[in-house]
Amino acid sequence: MTTGEFDGKVVVVTGAASGLGRATALAFAAAGARLALADIDEAGLAATAATVTGPGGEAVPIVTDIADADSCASLISQAHARFGRIDALCNVAGAFRFDHAASITPDVWDRIFAVNVRGPFFLCQAALPHLTESSGAIVNVASASAFLGHAFLTHYAASKAALVNLTKSLAMEYMHAPVRINAIAPGGINTAMTATPSVPEGIDFQLLARYSPLRGSAEPEDLTDLILMLAGPRGKPFHGACLNVDRGITAG
Ligand SMILES: NC(=O)c1ccc[n+]([C@@H]2O[C@H](COP(=O)([O-])OP(=O)(O)OC[C@H]3O[C@@H](n4cnc5c(N)ncnc54)[C@H](O)[C@@H]3O)[C@@H](O)[C@H]2O)c1
Repeated sequence: MTTGEFDGKVVVVTGAASGLGRATALAFAAAGARLALADIDEAGLAATAATVTGPGGEAVPIVTDIADADSCASLISQAHARFGRIDALCNVAGAFRFDHAASITPDVWDRIFAVNVRGPFFLCQAALPHLTESSGAIVNVASASAFLGHAFLTHYAASKAALVNLTKSLAMEYMHAPVRINAIAPGGINTAMTATPSVPEGIDFQLLARYSPLRGSAEPEDLTDLILMLAGPRGKPFHGACLNVDRGITAG
């Protein structure tokens, strides 16, 4: 039962145009939060915001490319200027693509890291003073790929492993501050990211099958209560944790 759990609270959600970010935004809105929603996809972001505001919720869409550090700082300052406080930051946006390791260019590598690691870091950096003031929380969305060698996803898997360590390192540095910093590591989720992935020629599908969830993929809505738990008072025992939520992919 989460309705009203976030009454009066302000939550920033990135990746809010689609998939897990959209589902997260809708779950926070249903729990009473006021929302600053960010994504690079303007139309998708507007659709999510309209779904929140239609029934009377409060959401401001802020089109943002989180690969740009100045835009990350601007997102947080716009959210704070609009609502006067920030209680949670959920870094959900992510960039994903299959590539042969031999074909990854420096630009592709840098883009994946800019979206999956650098953006979340500079958003945390900008939000932490406000979160410390509100005794708030950060929830970073990593991936089961952070914990496995993942063929054809060298850049993505390495970036998600970096995000897990970023989460733990910030948790250590802010150990004595009234803020909680955690991550989740999902396995397959039924979203646009994995619906029609472009797979380069010559991929060894036997290697990819290793990561197929034997218990099937999750729906985004299966994961939102975990994010709300970590973002709010129910998450009090968690700091510096990365919760695996992958239906057994990393079990063995
Ligand atoms: N789908 C899966 O199987 C799966 C598994 C494990 C982890 N994840 C992670 O879950 C998170 C959500 O992904 P999803 O499955 O909902 O995918 P999705 O494609 O539905 O959503 C990702 C969102 O991130 C946004 N985005 C991408 N680059 C951006 C940028 N530079 N600035 C701002 N927004 C940007 C996209 O526009 C999109 O709306 C990601 O971090 C992803 O890595 C997904």
